[in-house]
Amino acid sequence: MNLKKIVVIGAGTMGSGIAQWFAQQMCFVELVDNSEDQLKKALAEIHKSWDKLVEKEKLTNSQVNQMKKLLEIKSLNLVSKDTDLVVEAIIENLEIKKTLFQDLDHYFAPHTIISSNTSSFPITLMSEAVSAERKKRFVGLHFFNPATIMKLVEVIKGEKTDAKLCEDLYDWFDSKDKKPALSKDSPGFIVNRVARNFYGEPLRIVDVEDEAKMREVDQILKDVGGFKMGPFELMDLIGIDVNYSVTCSVWEAYNRESRFAPHELQKKMVEENRFGRKSKRGFYKYD
Ligand code: NAI
Repeated sequence: MNLKKIVVIGAGTMGSGIAQWFAQQMCFVELVDNSEDQLKKALAEIHKSWDKLVEKEKLTNSQVNQMKKLLEIKSLNLVSKDTDLVVEAIIENLEIKKTLFQDLDHYFAPHTIISSNTSSFPITLMSEAVSAERKKRFVGLHFFNPATIMKLVEVIKGEKTDAKLCEDLYDWFDSKDKKPALSKDSPGFIVNRVARNFYGEPLRIVDVEDEAKMREVDQILKDVGGFKMGPFELMDLIGIDVNYSVTCSVWEAYNRESRFAPHELQKKMVEENRFGRKSKRGFYKYD
């Protein structure tokens, strides 16, 4: 497998990081979003991040100039139809994703691999939106936040996904600076299933909004557990809206088992548009 042309759909937290990472692998990347403002903002942030890497001498000027040429922002109807791989990273909403996959199936060439960065929806369920042929080339590729830094990529095989395709993707990521893991198509895959309790239990411990208590829990888990970020800091980074959707969908998928139950505070924060770092207000405030 040789992935050279990539289309990333969704230029939010994940899509912009994924697009940046692929361009850093010297792939040609077309980044798409239904918000033009978000697209421009994402491109500016990626360029800023590359400029900083030059300042820190982690990349050279000539590498960054090449990467800047390789990454373009586009509207979906203008991207290359013969791209090798599409990575979908739009809002975590099953119906919206399925509608998009139906369109993508018609638009892209038969050889194009269509993948989803979903945190929680079964790949087999989403693949209902595409043709029998495309189902073989429909796969989960779950990156972690921030996508340029986190090594893990879960490669998720749907019921009809070609097993060889998953192995080839595994090998391709393995040959780059990623640590792939083949995962079953089960709710939350590997990490988001295990991590539900990393968020849910601290929320139940604190129970009501109390910044001092949240800071204390974050600090304890960093000091004692060796985690780089505490659960409240991490939820703010992920996005409260995204984390809440994932919690709900994993909870539903496990027949509402109490250990996966969302917390009232998550729902309240989403209703108040407190999405974490991206809206400058989550459990904590950001400037
Ligand atoms: P986000 O809210 O930061 O970005 C989503 C972007 O998708 C927005 O820019 C929005 O304008 C765009 N969008 C929405 N509908 C669209 C459509 N129909 N066509 C084109 N663009 C559309 O969300 P985030 O955090 O980047 O999440 C994206 C996906 O990645 C979700 O499926 C999420 O579950 C998954 N994910 C999120 C992680 C995180 O830490 N935030 C980690 C791993 C996966």
